[in-house]
Amino acid sequence: TTGPDVIDVRGLIDHGYFTYDPGFVSTASCESEITYIDGANGVLLHRGYPIEQLATHSNHTKLSYLLLNGEIPDDEAYKAFRQSVSRHTMVHEQIVNFFKGFRRDAHPMAVLCGVAGALSAFYHDNLDITQDHDRQVSAIRLIAKMPTLAAMCYKYNIGQPFVYPRNDLDYAENFLYMMFSNPCEEYRINPVAAKAMDRIFMLHADHEQNASTSTVRLAGSTGANPFACISAGIAALWGPAHGGANEAVLDMLAEIGDESEENIQRFVDRAKNKQDAFRLMGFGHRVYRNFDPRAKVMKETCDEVLEELGMGDDPQLKIAKRLEQIALEDDYFIERKLYPNVDFYSGIILRALGIPKNMFTVIFAVARTTGWISHWNEMITNGTRIGRPRQLYKGYTQRDYPGHQ
Ligand code: ACO
Repeated sequence: TTGPDVIDVRGLIDHGYFTYDPGFVSTASCESEITYIDGANGVLLHRGYPIEQLATHSNHTKLSYLLLNGEIPDDEAYKAFRQSVSRHTMVHEQIVNFFKGFRRDAHPMAVLCGVAGALSAFYHDNLDITQDHDRQVSAIRLIAKMPTLAAMCYKYNIGQPFVYPRNDLDYAENFLYMMFSNPCEEYRINPVAAKAMDRIFMLHADHEQNASTSTVRLAGSTGANPFACISAGIAALWGPAHGGANEAVLDMLAEIGDESEENIQRFVDRAKNKQDAFRLMGFGHRVYRNFDPRAKVMKETCDEVLEELGMGDDPQLKIAKRLEQIALEDDYFIERKLYPNVDFYSGIILRALGIPKNMFTVIFAVARTTGWISHWNEMITNGTRIGRPRQLYKGYTQRDYPGHQ
């Protein structure tokens, strides 16, 4: 026994016993020092620091350093880390050709899965994962290049030329610049938009052993290279029950159409109906049985950003707020402890920044890369056994192939 409620099954497995835990509801797959969640009380700490304090005082680059290295960087370490990330923002020119193999109307997440995985074909000079130096180089390459790849996905999708990164800009500023500037007109980065973007990156940076991070760890446990592992994480993130939810929230708000009471109630009733597969998107969480602390910060950011951009009367924001109120007063949601999660308000902010819906999960992937790679690095540093879940076999016992004598 390793704690009051934790049974260490390592010995039992060797004797032929195993736990059956569909969805890994109560099975820990690893030890980690990166992120702590207290779902009952709505607490999220990165390396011990509350997400609310990080969202106020930090930025995405500092947070990446913290997740990866365990401590907040001092000025000198921050400067060096920032420079290092900036130096790696460019991607190999052949990657431009690689992009051209995709259909332009492909979903940007489909393209991102492919190009992120292909990075190991371009950056195989530091892939000895037993070496601390090589792991750091790959981590920085991934954190640096993901915004570039994400913006390239967008530009390719809309048929505009790719925009090269500018290393004088901060992480979020640079991303917005690569997304929205074009050779024909001057693009000024709105500081309100850059701050909001950075906050969205921070709020999505890590969330311990969620489906995509667990996927990264499982892939990494085989010794696969970090680019391949991150590509696996991107694929897992894409699902609507995970990172695809922010896109689904906006679809749902658009479908609701207006903030009339009966319209919203109709959707809440649908979500409660067990014969209907519909769920309130952006509601509920496997771990939080209380307010998702990221959702609180996201809601405040949403109010601030829309106000500062002169969009305080946004109809979708009004529908979202009323929907939240109605659901939070409804016994179905109260009994099941279903609260808005981080994705409930993020889509509204992203839309206000001019980012199209099909890019929302891509942005989540950019932000989460830092968490994924920190977990991968922790796992390799601490040493791991290959991840290999057991199964409860329910099929036929042995039988003969037709015609076999
Ligand atoms: N709307 C209506 N009912 C819901 C919702 C919802 N959004 N979420 C959960 N429930 C109900 C379930 O039907 C179930 O009811 P039951 O006990 O009567 O059968 C109960 O609440 C428990 O739900 P589970 O599916 O068992 O919870 P689980 O932990 O497996 O799933 C999940 C969590 C996937 C997030 C779920 O709440 C969901 O589908 N939410 C909507 C999608 C979403 O917003 N995903 C984003 C998650 S956050 C992130 O990835 C960043």
